[in-house]
Amino acid sequence: MSTIVITGTQWGDEGKGKIVDYLASKADTVVRFQGGCNAGHTVVADGEEYKLRLLPSGILYKGTLNIIANGVAFDPEVCLQEMDAMTARGIDTSNTRISDRAHVVMPYHRLMDGIGDAQRGADKIGTTGRGIGPCYMDRDDRIGIRVCDLMEKDEFAKKLKRNLDIKNGELAAVYHHEPLEYEEVLKEYQGYAERLRPLVTDTIPLLNEEIAAGHKILFEGAQATMLDIDYGTYPYVTASHPVSGGVTVGAGVAPKKIDKVVGIVKAYCTRVGEGPFPTEQLNAIGEKLREAGHEFGTVTGRPRRTGWLDAVVVRHAGLLSGIDYMAVTRLDILDGFDEIKICTGYKHKGQLLKGVPASLNVLAEVEPVYETFSGWKTDISGIRSYDDLPENARKYLERMAEITGIALGIVSVGPSREQTIVLAKDLF
Ligand code: GDP
Ligand code: IMO
Ligand code: MG
Repeated sequence: MSTIVITGTQWGDEGKGKIVDYLASKADTVVRFQGGCNAGHTVVADGEEYKLRLLPSGILYKGTLNIIANGVAFDPEVCLQEMDAMTARGIDTSNTRISDRAHVVMPYHRLMDGIGDAQRGADKIGTTGRGIGPCYMDRDDRIGIRVCDLMEKDEFAKKLKRNLDIKNGELAAVYHHEPLEYEEVLKEYQGYAERLRPLVTDTIPLLNEEIAAGHKILFEGAQATMLDIDYGTYPYVTASHPVSGGVTVGAGVAPKKIDKVVGIVKAYCTRVGEGPFPTEQLNAIGEKLREAGHEFGTVTGRPRRTGWLDAVVVRHAGLLSGIDYMAVTRLDILDGFDEIKICTGYKHKGQLLKGVPASLNVLAEVEPVYETFSGWKTDISGIRSYDDLPENARKYLERMAEITGIALGIVSVGPSREQTIVLAKDLF
């Protein structure tokens, strides 16, 4: 088995970083293929916590190749800050490669993201304000600036001039913001270009040669299925494709080169930002989940909304991404609960729905159908084998696999590498 895609099945923050880091101990290469520094992936290694936004979560292993592929909205400032912070902590980041086709996040993208979302008022999405949506908008409008342009001094100057002419007009008329200074942005980005130049390459042959050589590759999804631009709760979504298919267009890897897909499933559900969340618990249970799980956003620090596990959403993710195994994370957060619930289906006007409805009006009206489980009321964070888990925890997991139709591959009982129980025999 040489290529594994890691994809989030819910609304993000499922623990993708932890599972990628765990599997990366055996991987040769870790690839980010979509999103940008809107992601916040936490890795805990040897008692140290690392929060990664743009760098792939394989970065902690010496010798692992880390690729930021063409599908990523690439913020050079954040990338360099993150590399500097890692270097200061003794982590070597020189084995990072950045696609020359990735689109560059510019200062006007960040401004437009922040101001634009605030201008939506009550309809705001609650974006991370990192400029990801506006960067992809420019790509699709075919005025984007790519990393290869940033590497060419004259080309970058020309494109920046043209774009600032457009963007400064928009900043004034639509966003009521003062213009950005051409010379200032030029100088700033030329500085980034010089520092990043040794890492920039065409990652398509590089990655495909790695695959052809039988090397072990992990594709690290950011965000998650319910935030996918097409399959999530549109318009309360991100601007990329976190589903496994995103790998093919986001990294230049053909579909038949993907061997296995692992869907990360938090043992309950959280969401940051606005938008529908059928199993949300706006009550003491939700509060308890937030407190027990310290559910506050990695990137923005916002409190995360909390609720019971939604198997409809996980099934949706399973179907869309062809998930072979679930990696269930944060099971330990449920240790103190007397009762735990799983939403097994959505009822709408007395009818059980087949999947996740496209219409947000219908989604707002669905009534989650719950199955209730007895809690295990034991600290499971020290358990290292599946059979040692309390019977009620095993019942919860096994029923989860049954309802979603996805096999259980990994169970995580804490943030550290050691707190990982692997059941799947064929992951690397
Ligand atoms: P990601 O965006 O999917 O990578 O997830 P985040 O890193 O944003 O959020 C997941 C949080 O849960 C991080 O703080 C992880 O260190 C932590 N975590 C991951 N797995 C577990 C687990 O099994 N138990 C506990 N208690 N924490 C975990
Ligand atoms: P990871 O990879 C959770 C959410 C934002 C907002 C919506 C759109 O850590 O799981 P954007 O800035 O992407 O345009 O915001 O998507 N969002 C995330 N929520 N985890 C993430 O990433 C997210 N990335 C974006 O809160 O609702
Ligand atoms: Mg996160």
